[in-house]
Amino acid sequence: MKHRELVAIIDFGAQYNQLIARRVRESGVYCEVFHHDTPWTEIVARRPQAIILTGGPASVYAPGAPRVDPAVFEAGIPVLGICYGMQLMAYMLGGVVGEGRHGEYGGAVLELVGSSPLLEGFAPAQRVWMSHGDLVEKPPPGFDVLARTANTPVAVMADATRGLYGVQFHPEVAHTPGGRKLLANFLLGIAGCRGDWTVSSFIEDSVTEIAARVGDGRAVAALSGGVDSAVAATLVARAIGERLTCIFVRHGLLREGEDAEVVRTFQGRQGMRLVVVDAEERFLRALKGVADPERKRKIIGETFIRVFEEEASRLGQVDFLVQGTIYPDVIESGHQGASLIKTHHNVGGLPECFGLVLIEPLRELFKDEVRRVGAELGLPPALLERHPFPGPGLAVRILGPITRKRLAVLRAADRIVTEEVKGAGWYGHLWQAFAVLLPVRSVGVMGDRRSYGQVVAVRAVQSEDAMTADWARLPHELLERISARLVNEVREVTRVVYDITPKPPATIEWE
Ligand code: XMP
Repeated sequence: MKHRELVAIIDFGAQYNQLIARRVRESGVYCEVFHHDTPWTEIVARRPQAIILTGGPASVYAPGAPRVDPAVFEAGIPVLGICYGMQLMAYMLGGVVGEGRHGEYGGAVLELVGSSPLLEGFAPAQRVWMSHGDLVEKPPPGFDVLARTANTPVAVMADATRGLYGVQFHPEVAHTPGGRKLLANFLLGIAGCRGDWTVSSFIEDSVTEIAARVGDGRAVAALSGGVDSAVAATLVARAIGERLTCIFVRHGLLREGEDAEVVRTFQGRQGMRLVVVDAEERFLRALKGVADPERKRKIIGETFIRVFEEEASRLGQVDFLVQGTIYPDVIESGHQGASLIKTHHNVGGLPECFGLVLIEPLRELFKDEVRRVGAELGLPPALLERHPFPGPGLAVRILGPITRKRLAVLRAADRIVTEEVKGAGWYGHLWQAFAVLLPVRSVGVMGDRRSYGQVVAVRAVQSEDAMTADWARLPHELLERISARLVNEVREVTRVVYDITPKPPATIEWE
């Protein structure tokens, strides 16, 4: 899609580089992340208004350490190097980078020793977050030192004439209170970005572009019940109306009331056509007796594709397939060497084998931006603010084989957890909260009788982006109510446990 202005973020592999992109967007400036191997000619052809070089785990002296094309520094485009990005800038332009000995991890006090539009609004001393092994000992010719900390003699450097800036600390993290200000100073002040990238301008541009691309053609979309597919379909419907058909495959693995909600929300919306396929029986048959999580995901993914394909072929001529891919998916799948932890089979995420041309209108958006687009398109807040839900649904929250009976138990348990979390005002503070049905049974006493029932684990986590997460410190009174309701209202449950493991080492889901 064409954007009015672009900031190119060149990624050297630090774990939190997505945060830089988010912060840039928060300043109203559109940006994209490019892997450091991307040829410079490709980046410069997009006419970026500014370049940000991110942090990364390497030392500039390590064999095979990532580099940039020296042309980056000669293009007349303002460049901000962060951490490794700054060290690389210093190294490539003739400064001295010191290796390893005096690393700094955690909070530090930044002391200004020079002035620059980059540091406008900064106090003479303020807290910043450091995380580095190497450091710049001597800036390259033409650079001034603008700030230092106790352990880092060159914490900020600049060659204002060439528009080159480097900061050793991390402006993108919350522990650097002036970080947003610094990025805004660089983007809006130094690089002259207008900061006019908004959700409304995004919708306007996308609708025009989709309408032009689809022309008289027809498109099909899969609704999963989740936010991304709902927003993507609604956006495409705004552009092409009834030439979009949405297919909702009822696989029977959603939570209580969700099937009905999808139908209610999309039936007749903006003239789009909705086809509901009842495939619960087919999915449960395919999953019968399967306990292995990866096999469950594979079966669900494959069955989904088959059912979808059959329905789509009934529609006659279709040219386009709408996908709810969002930016974190794009960045993540572009990461080289990232190991496969789980097969993230997104139900609704279909392969390109249909011969259909993909429309992925949310490819460039972060989750919070997707929600804002959805709100502006008039989707119900309950749908937009819903916690993320895995594509394979309740199948990966029932440990062991899936049966209708176990699904009913988990649905009832999950409803109680959600109701209580919402009732206590915690829902909006959590990334996810849900129930998991364990494959063990446990002894209990009910009245005067011993019982031998099922165990439910309650999982509630806080997270920025699901890459890491911590278990939520829910009040004991809330946990007590959840536990009491689970054992009283769901007859099969005799024991409730609360999961207190962070991610890593655990994952958020149990399978
Ligand atoms: P984990 O369990 O890997 O989950 O810490 C991270 C986030 O991803 C969701 N998740 C999935 N989403 N298909 C999906 O679409 C999947 O197979 C899947 N597995 C986990 C999970 O709910 C959490 O938000």
